[in-house]
Amino acid sequence: MKVTIYLFCTAVLFLGQSRSEPSNKKFPENFRFGVATAAYQVEGGWADDGKGENIWDHYTHHQPDHIANNATGDVACDSYHKYMEDVEMLKNLGVNYYRFSLSWSRILPTGYTNQINEAGVTYYKNLISALKENGIEPFVTLYHWDLPQPLQEIGGWPNPLLEDNFAEYARTAFTLFGDDVKNWMTFNEPQQTCLFGYGLGATAPGASASGIGEYKCAYTIVKAHAKAYHIYDEEFRPTQNGRVSIVVDASWAEPGSDSDEDKEAAERLLQFSYGFYAHPIYHPDGNFPQVMIDRIADRSEKEGFPTSRLPELSTEEIEYIRGTFDFLCLNSYTTNMVKWTNDYAIGAPGYYADLSVSTYQDPSWNNSASGWLKVVPWGMRKLLNWVDQTYNHPEIVITENGFSDDGRLDDLTRINYYAEYLTSILEAVLEDGVNVTGYTAWSLMDNFQWNFGYLEKFGIYQVDFEDPDRTRTIKSSGEYYKSVIANKCLVDTCEE
Ligand SMILES: *[C@@H]1O[C@H](CO)[C@@H](O)[C@H](O)[C@H]1NC(C)=O
Ligand SMILES: *[C@@H]1O[C@H](CO)[C@@H](O)[C@H](O)[C@H]1NC(C)=O
Ligand SMILES: *[C@@H]1O[C@H](CO)[C@@H](O)[C@H](O)[C@H]1NC(C)=O
Repeated sequence: MKVTIYLFCTAVLFLGQSRSEPSNKKFPENFRFGVATAAYQVEGGWADDGKGENIWDHYTHHQPDHIANNATGDVACDSYHKYMEDVEMLKNLGVNYYRFSLSWSRILPTGYTNQINEAGVTYYKNLISALKENGIEPFVTLYHWDLPQPLQEIGGWPNPLLEDNFAEYARTAFTLFGDDVKNWMTFNEPQQTCLFGYGLGATAPGASASGIGEYKCAYTIVKAHAKAYHIYDEEFRPTQNGRVSIVVDASWAEPGSDSDEDKEAAERLLQFSYGFYAHPIYHPDGNFPQVMIDRIADRSEKEGFPTSRLPELSTEEIEYIRGTFDFLCLNSYTTNMVKWTNDYAIGAPGYYADLSVSTYQDPSWNNSASGWLKVVPWGMRKLLNWVDQTYNHPEIVITENGFSDDGRLDDLTRINYYAEYLTSILEAVLEDGVNVTGYTAWSLMDNFQWNFGYLEKFGIYQVDFEDPDRTRTIKSSGEYYKSVIANKCLVDTCEE
């Protein structure tokens, strides 16, 4: 008997190490749960009631072959017409908050404040009051990748004048919605906007200027964020008492070995991808990461440029930008392994040449439907610890995390993903003392997944995109998340 019990225990221990069991600890009482979407990915109604054209409307209509199956967000989930159903779904899940974004062109069709579209304003006012009536806090992103096309016609984000256009738009939004919205995020994932939109030419607006475009874009965006923050601080905070931040995304970078070279390469990747946007705002010293300043200046000189391709922040700008956050917003989905490599030869400028590292993902990691997204729960805990230590123990809200598949209702792999990532987050909170206060699942429902169209599904609700009514159905993962929120617990019963 004793022997049997002993063997049984060994087997359990062994299983516990080979696959990570969900934690049976409870989330802290004040920990909050939400779900997220973004305007272009769910709203549809792309030209309804006076909305102006944005860069994703333009890109999907003019370069349809860049999107899987030539898909567009013209109708998407039709949330412009079906937002009351969305609110019912949120209520059913029991979320504490809903993270969504405003479509700049729906509110300011020209991109400028010369014209306000009342129908667009009414849409968001209705959505916000329906949320509040149901006890759901609105968490609002001002910019989730959908720049008004007229502002692209003057160059888009690499044009530093857009700092003022964004600031005016932000002031308009604070004025219109700030009595009800207490959590604001200026930009979502500027790395994606700058690197893929203005560097590699892979997403809207499709500008290819690597080594220059993404750096000028980031320069404008960190300043535009800071300006919006200061406007809120000076003109709105005294009466509205809300919080403002920026969402920066990161994948954990794990050194390929214990060697100093691989550790340095992994840290460099984190600084180029995350620190570029986070350091000027979240780091007590401000400014872009020193490793970027040094490497890009050096390569620029060897390439024959009179000054660095990385714009320089003046002392006044560094002061103006640093500390412009009330909490830290982090999106993360996956992990990459990083190995040191020789610096790329001097030639055409490029972001990847400036960075000069080699990355890969372990073939043993579980797949999702997205090539870049492998299931690596331990990477989340390491990333949270790195952010905690690098930026001086900030309050962190995870503003996106999630898993893609083919859209099936019985989505057990998504449940595993959430259980394992939330376990890793809970360990960071309870065992490492990282101050994570909120978790946001991406996404409330299947939606337009940018260049992948409707092929990669991230929803905890399924949407039938063949049905003109865009019928929504809860998935198994939606039921699971609902119970996690209700019990603040990842398994059937938690330790009390
Ligand atoms: C990988 O997938 C298997 C099968 O679904 C599952 O048992 C295991 O827990 C997963 N591992 C991770 C790290 O997600
Ligand atoms: C997608 O758009 C391209 C370019 O307009 C066109 O040639 C192609 O036939 C379209 N494909 C589909 C599947 O509609
Ligand atoms: C987390 O941040 C909040 C807000 O700043 C603060 O009130 C709380 O004391 C912090 N908790 C920890 C464990 O640092």
